[in-house]
Amino acid sequence: MKAAFVTDVENVEVKEIERPVISDTEVLIRAKTVGVCGSDLHLFRGTHPFRHAPAILGHEIAGEVVETGSAVTKFKVGDRVTVEPQVGCGTCEMCRRGFVSLCADKKVPGTTKWIGAFSEYFNAEERITYPLSDEISYETGTLAEPLAVAVHTVNHARTKSGALVILGAGTIGQLILAFAKWKGYSPIIVTDTAEFNREFALKHGAAAAFNPLEQDVPAEVKKLTGGGADLVIVAAGADNILDQACQCARKCGEVGIVAMITSKIPFYSYAVVFNEIDLYGAMCYEPKDFAEAMDLINSRKLELEDYVTQVVDGIERTQEGLELLSRKTEPVVKVLIRMAE
Ligand SMILES: NC(=O)c1ccc[n+]([C@@H]2O[C@H](COP(=O)([O-])OP(=O)(O)OC[C@H]3O[C@@H](n4cnc5c(N)ncnc54)[C@H](O)[C@@H]3O)[C@@H](O)[C@H]2O)c1
Ligand SMILES: [Zn+2]
Ligand SMILES: [Zn+2]
Repeated sequence: MKAAFVTDVENVEVKEIERPVISDTEVLIRAKTVGVCGSDLHLFRGTHPFRHAPAILGHEIAGEVVETGSAVTKFKVGDRVTVEPQVGCGTCEMCRRGFVSLCADKKVPGTTKWIGAFSEYFNAEERITYPLSDEISYETGTLAEPLAVAVHTVNHARTKSGALVILGAGTIGQLILAFAKWKGYSPIIVTDTAEFNREFALKHGAAAAFNPLEQDVPAEVKKLTGGGADLVIVAAGADNILDQACQCARKCGEVGIVAMITSKIPFYSYAVVFNEIDLYGAMCYEPKDFAEAMDLINSRKLELEDYVTQVVDGIERTQEGLELLSRKTEPVVKVLIRMAE
């Protein structure tokens, strides 16, 4: 089968490799659509703190089951599915508490332990494979993974209602907006440097959208919320973004960080102390967050069809897909690679 390897910084080569061999408890999936994720870009650009080329990227997958292990009971050949792309060791304290994304021994795609999803076939344990409803396209099903990140980021907050600010309205920021709106946070204010993303957010329920390069975001937020937001979520990286987040939060407010900011940036911690702000991080999702995201998609409680802004046809064009998200030469929310019809 074909698989797309990042072989060097910003260089992808499609190579012929062996199909994964499944265990008794796994299914083999013919990939249909695979998402390009902001987090794939760190390795693609050569800035990932510990992962380097060569690697097969991709972890957002929707496809069709083509083979089942002898112990698999929930799926049969032909089923349409998506996958929660993480497998914990199952025995450590984090796994026992349900925090699979914090397991030190977890298996994720694109590592020596598991193939990446930019390949024609992908193996997955039955217990992390989810059925995709017949009415939901593979394209929309592929959004389950980034939506699970959004679900986890919002569910992690102790703030369950009130004013929310989302700094960065890319894929993750937009999905946080969609989920938080459904949860009833109001008003929701977003920022983005890209006009398309601000407009997209306004069309999808944001009360206001500011450009941090031209507007004084904390001042605007304070005007709209009467003193600051209850919850501020950082979904983009920039040198001033943590300070900006703390300045947007009200006294006793909360700041959540989902953006992976892999360089050291300045941070004025006194603002956190002075206003008693709670700070938290959000890493991927717990299995229950993924299940919630799947339910929101399958039941159409969230309609996410138009969040897929580009579909690049064919595994040979994986490099193009990664570049589209990386360079943003055209407006994007979510870029997918179509691996098969
Ligand atoms: N914690 C996790 O589990 C997890 C999972 C997925 C992605 N992430 C991270 O979340 C972040 C967002 O991911 P994404 O897929 O949405 O990426 P993305 O590139 O689609 O979105 C980032 C957005 O931020 C905007 N932006 C740039 N500078 C900005 C600024 N100063 N203020 C406001 N907006 C600005 C960009 O225009 C873009 O729209 C990335 O850092 C990614 O690595 C984390
Ligand atoms: Zn992702
Ligand atoms: Zn574990």
